[in-house]
Amino acid sequence: MLEAINETISYIKKETQLHPDTAIILGTGLGKIAEEIEAEVSIPYEKIPHFPVSTVQGHDGKMIIGKYAGKEVIVLKGRFHYYEGYSMQEVTFPIRALKFLGIKNLFISNAAGGMNPEFEIGDVMFINDHINLMPNPLIGKHFPEFGARFPDMSDVYNRILIEKALEVAARQQLNAHTGTYVGVTGPTLETPKEYEYIRIIGGDAVGMSTVPEAIIAHQMGMTIFAISVITDLGIPGKIEKLTHEMVQQAAEKVTPKLVKVIEEIIAGI
Ligand code: HPA
Repeated sequence: MLEAINETISYIKKETQLHPDTAIILGTGLGKIAEEIEAEVSIPYEKIPHFPVSTVQGHDGKMIIGKYAGKEVIVLKGRFHYYEGYSMQEVTFPIRALKFLGIKNLFISNAAGGMNPEFEIGDVMFINDHINLMPNPLIGKHFPEFGARFPDMSDVYNRILIEKALEVAARQQLNAHTGTYVGVTGPTLETPKEYEYIRIIGGDAVGMSTVPEAIIAHQMGMTIFAISVITDLGIPGKIEKLTHEMVQQAAEKVTPKLVKVIEEIIAGI
């Protein structure tokens, strides 16, 4: 694993003069945020040694290194999901590579279904906790280079950044909440009873990503800020037949306001 990471980062370092300490993962429908980056280099995932290749519509799979809000950043446009058939080690490989590239702050975004009755489509939720219903990405051989065998998970999502994001969202008139994200494998969306179950166990939003990335990043000591865009509702009476295109479109609509939130937070760190 370390050898693979070294090959990955030496390839990336040859492509850029910059030394970013912040990275952003763009989820479904949020790829347009990448247009805000003053790109120095854009590398398709196929070219990066050991990177898996994203297979999902709406995720076009590239690493963009450049400047955003006056800061040097790495943007991962498109991510890897467990439901695509990758192992959890493959899904989270880019996060470990980012850490070894010098990334300290990780911003994660996703599209998610909302179960909290106060949520509406187009709202955002700043994640303040998660429940993992996917296989744990740390199952398997332990590599002490990445951190503890039994990582503490009492404080994964940075509270200061959440407070700041709530302030910015209020100024942008963006409906923002905080809450618990429940990570599921997918690729099926939830049945009404599954939404109900996820709500009962404490979930505010549900989706098929983010949790493995956050676990791996937290084990390595990164500062994490994660945003769900609520693209559909898993609330009794409000559940509708859902397609991936609907998820994409709902996320795209929120992008302009979300860009402002991310920009201000990055400028402030
Ligand atoms: N469930 C799971 N994943 C999702 C959803 C959902 O309702 N919406 C967007 N991603």
